[in-house]
Amino acid sequence: SAAARRSKLLLMGKSGSGKTSMRSVIFSNYSAKDTRRLGATIDVDQSTVRFLGSLVLNLWDCGGQNAFVDNYLTAQQSTIFANVAVLIYVFDITSTEWEADLKYFDEILTALRENSGDAGVWVLINKMDLADKEDPARKKYEERKADVIAVEERIRRERKEKAEKSGKKIPEGEEGGSIRCFATSIWDESLYKAWSSIVHTLIPNIGLITSHLTFLRDLCLAAEVVVFETETFLVIAKSGTPLDTDPSELDVAETESGIGKLDRQRFEKISEIVKGFRKTCQRTGEQWLGFESTFDQCSVIVEPMTRNSFVLVVSNDSRIETAMLQYNLNMARNHFS
Ligand code: GTP
Repeated sequence: SAAARRSKLLLMGKSGSGKTSMRSVIFSNYSAKDTRRLGATIDVDQSTVRFLGSLVLNLWDCGGQNAFVDNYLTAQQSTIFANVAVLIYVFDITSTEWEADLKYFDEILTALRENSGDAGVWVLINKMDLADKEDPARKKYEERKADVIAVEERIRRERKEKAEKSGKKIPEGEEGGSIRCFATSIWDESLYKAWSSIVHTLIPNIGLITSHLTFLRDLCLAAEVVVFETETFLVIAKSGTPLDTDPSELDVAETESGIGKLDRQRFEKISEIVKGFRKTCQRTGEQWLGFESTFDQCSVIVEPMTRNSFVLVVSNDSRIETAMLQYNLNMARNHFS
């Protein structure tokens, strides 16, 4: 394949918000429980994750203790914030120092915009499992999200004004822009949803992959075809409309097959279940190779697609059997690798 595309991801947020925990669950096969053993990250912990062969993620897990953060904002600023593809900023919903947390976020986003105007920004408000019992309607989450968005908007406005005053123009694509905000917990599938969304945007040719999956779906008389990355089991792409499309805006085939009525969390639930099951298999010295099942009117297979990916094919046409899905997948495999 073509030369590896390197993408720098900054993982930032206050100490104890859960940055290293997330990274370990998603990329290093930790269970949520295993993360209790993690110590504070000292300075920046850099790691490389090869994702889908040609996509290499450089993950900079930046320890969140105040002394380190102050240093990122001063002496290390140009090193840390240059050439960033994505900033993932993690807040702790249970924090009792929201004003101070927000101020750090403000300073970090300002530094990011000065050095990497076009970086994507994801805000994960974490440890939702601890807040949900007291506040099931997630009022606090909505308030914090609004605060975060207000900070971003102010920074964007001020940059624009400053540039105009000095007679300069901010280059197109570097104006900054909307933040994507997710409520997460390392204890459930919400973590996979957030990280799938992040990685999804870094994959080149996502449009082309989607159209091939849609073609395969229709060829198999299937309802849905979904591709997962083998190691992390994060969703890479799906047939039909993009991930997270509102059920009212699905394509004709999706509407007819009833996809819109399915659980909207189904992809991240599969990620979590497969990773958990694979861990169990490892303990007993076995290897998980895939899945096939027929139930009600449905046939489902989950099988390796390429060296770095698994594919899920679901059909709810009662005439279609799993062997047919597997046969078609075999025929399609060369095409995808
Ligand atoms: P620094 O390295 O100091 O910047 O901290 P960090 O952000 O990397 O925090 P870390 O991942 O070390 O997590 C701190 C503690 O929070 C660990 O004991 C985790 O088990 C716990 N934790 C992380 N995420 C969650 C979560 O979603 N829910 C709950 N209940 N605990 C979490």
